Amino acid sequence: MEATSSTGAETKEEKPGKIFIAGSTGKTGKRIVEQLLSKGFGVRAGVRDLEKGRSSLPQNPNLQIVRADVSEGSEKLAEAIGDAEAVVCATGFKPSFDVFAPWKVDNFGTVNLVDACRKVGVKRFVHVSSILVNGAAMGQLLNPAYIFLNLFGLTLVAKLQAEKYIKRSGINYTIIRPGGLKNDPPAGNIVMEPEDTLYQGSISRDQVAEVAVEALQCPESFFKVVEIVARIEAPERPLKDLFSSIKKQ
Ligand SMILES: NC(=O)c1ccc[n+]([C@@H]2O[C@H](COP(=O)([O-])OP(=O)(O)OC[C@H]3O[C@@H](n4cnc5c(N)ncnc54)[C@H](OP(=O)(O)O)[C@@H]3O)[C@@H](O)[C@H]2O)c1
Repeated sequence: MEATSSTGAETKEEKPGKIFIAGSTGKTGKRIVEQLLSKGFGVRAGVRDLEKGRSSLPQNPNLQIVRADVSEGSEKLAEAIGDAEAVVCATGFKPSFDVFAPWKVDNFGTVNLVDACRKVGVKRFVHVSSILVNGAAMGQLLNPAYIFLNLFGLTLVAKLQAEKYIKRSGINYTIIRPGGLKNDPPAGNIVMEPEDTLYQGSISRDQVAEVAVEALQCPESFFKVVEIVARIEAPERPLKDLFSSIKKQ
């Protein structure tokens, strides 16, 4: 059992704490929920649609499914977070005709979630973002992925602004920026680099979930932005070592 809780506080508790996950019915969010449950964490799974949540998430006595739409403001989100001691944000806008959807979800939604954490005193926030969010500053303005992802609603710009809000908020954050997400099982080992480094590559959602779950347990991940992809030729390294190799900004 960990000597340090997911909040970063020293603890003698035997049981891992309770984690709230926004976007629990998503392809990455669901994997995070499953991995947390398999490690004995209590989970409050935030979903937009309770029926969808009940039918897609596992039945487990440690799982509570709660309604949480990040666009509905921090008051309701604070209720949804309830007694969780850490929050994971795995939301992403659903493509629609609403050109503001990326801002409503990936920007204001994340801001609402951080504000909700403040309201209920949650001090730990793990956020799933994306590589290339800061593509313009990396000289990747003409990278097809940067152009494509910003074409509809400036999605990457919205995500970058949300990251800035998280960093300014004072909350203990880990921002995870994965490359292109795959549903397939892992093919290759995880490569972890500092922010604004990777501009291509992909990774299994299983591995993104692993990194998010490890971040909750690993003080080496505190106040860091990490970029992750998987590569066949990369050596297998413990996630703790990978987090340790990244400097705080
Ligand atoms: N796709 C890629 O290659 C890629 C690459 C790098 C990073 N990312 C980022 O990684 C994250 C996870 O991606 P993913 O493909 O696993 O996500 P996903 O399967 O599209 O799931 C997104 C989740 O967000 C939820 N959601 C949407 N609007 C919401 C709202 N207003 N309030 C609360 N929840 C809301 C969805 O709920 P419903 O189930 O109800 O729709 C769903 O659970 C996203 O931020 C994405 O942008 C994606």
